[in-house]
Amino acid sequence: MAYRFDKDEVERSMMESRKKTRESLDLVIAEADLRRSPGGGFRPLLWHLGHVGAFEEYWLLGRLKGDPPISARYAAIFDPIKTPREDSRNLPPIPEIESFLARVREEVLLSLKGFDPNSDDPLLRDGYIFDLVIEHEYQHQETLLYLLQMLDPALKRKPAGFGARKEFLRSVSRLPYETGTEMVRVAGGLFEMGSDGYPFAYDNERPPRMIELSDFRIDKYPVTNTDYARFIEAGGYETRSLWSDEGWEWKEKEGIRCPLYWSPVERQTDDSEDSARWLVREMFEERRMEADLPVVGVSWHEAEAYARFVGKRLPTEAEWEKAASWDPEQESKRRFSWGDELPRKEIANSNDNYWGTTPVAAFPDGRSAYGCFDLTGNVWEWTASTFASHAGFEVFPYPEYSELWFDGDHRVLKGGSWATRPPLLRCSFRNFFRPRFRIAFAGFRCAAD
Ligand code: AVJ
Ligand code: FE
Repeated sequence: MAYRFDKDEVERSMMESRKKTRESLDLVIAEADLRRSPGGGFRPLLWHLGHVGAFEEYWLLGRLKGDPPISARYAAIFDPIKTPREDSRNLPPIPEIESFLARVREEVLLSLKGFDPNSDDPLLRDGYIFDLVIEHEYQHQETLLYLLQMLDPALKRKPAGFGARKEFLRSVSRLPYETGTEMVRVAGGLFEMGSDGYPFAYDNERPPRMIELSDFRIDKYPVTNTDYARFIEAGGYETRSLWSDEGWEWKEKEGIRCPLYWSPVERQTDDSEDSARWLVREMFEERRMEADLPVVGVSWHEAEAYARFVGKRLPTEAEWEKAASWDPEQESKRRFSWGDELPRKEIANSNDNYWGTTPVAAFPDGRSAYGCFDLTGNVWEWTASTFASHAGFEVFPYPEYSELWFDGDHRVLKGGSWATRPPLLRCSFRNFFRPRFRIAFAGFRCAAD
């Protein structure tokens, strides 16, 4: 694919991105709630604002031009390795952080003007280093929404675009949930996994490589709330044989009996509708469970137990990526499940367009070549695979992005969520979290041989 480095485009993306980061923070009513941990030991939301600026400074002023940090103190506080989570408190005043960000940005735009993308250095060639910084802030924007979701809706303002959510849920075609268990067949053979790096890819996506898989089946839709509620009501959380040793031990210790943000409705009758039994807290309000929204807020252990309950398993990362990106007729790889064009709000749920999950059958135009819905956007999907190195992997440009996390304790998630920025929705993108992590906008679908 031809790719030209476009300075105006880079500047526009950087400005738009920072505006978006700021807008997320503006949704929090009280400054005190930005300055404290939202819970679970996570860093304050405000830390992420300083961190994206410090990252930008490190790469685009430090590595690119050899400039020393504007403030050694800032470089330390906003470095996740130098300052561990528990020490990320007592952050500087917001106006001070903002003037730091503004100074960094001013210098960066100057150096962009004189930047030469025709370089032999792969860090500079075609402006890789700028995309690295842009995608980094995009990822922290999604993290900010995980943290924002942890805050009680009463502590937040609704954004202007929130009305689009209700409107969409009213107007879109809903799935009769009995069809939620449909699967599609994927014939065995070779497919291309990973990315050639254009227009941008992380080290862990490269190099592209041909992988041979056997025949398998994969769910046509992500597992829905209704599907998952049946697992709970059938005693899934109390059935030892459905869980791995590690999963059972973790669940018992944490006392977990339903997804994060679910709570049982107090008064109910045995024959009440599934939807009447649970309340689900979304970003800005708590609502009755909706049958055909994908389940979200489950750990990898819960996904694995559910799959065992329905006599299936989680797909491997390779199976997932094939079902999402391979076009068996053209024998070619698609960037997103529908093709190569960037996501639009008519084709996938991403980019905070709907401020939450959408019905799993809402985007027929976003189907993969094999006919699966929602592989791109809506919820991240846990895969069976441990995040690990692969044939041809080379650290680039820093080990703390990927290699540090090849520790056997991270699982790969694919496809992006309703809060993922468009370029990160590419099928080759690999997200990774620990199997106990529940705050991501993550669900799953199942597979079978
Ligand atoms: C790939 C989303 C797991 O947020 O920890 C951000 C991305 N790396 N800053 C994370 C990342 C450095 C990373 N995830
Ligand atoms: Fe970061």
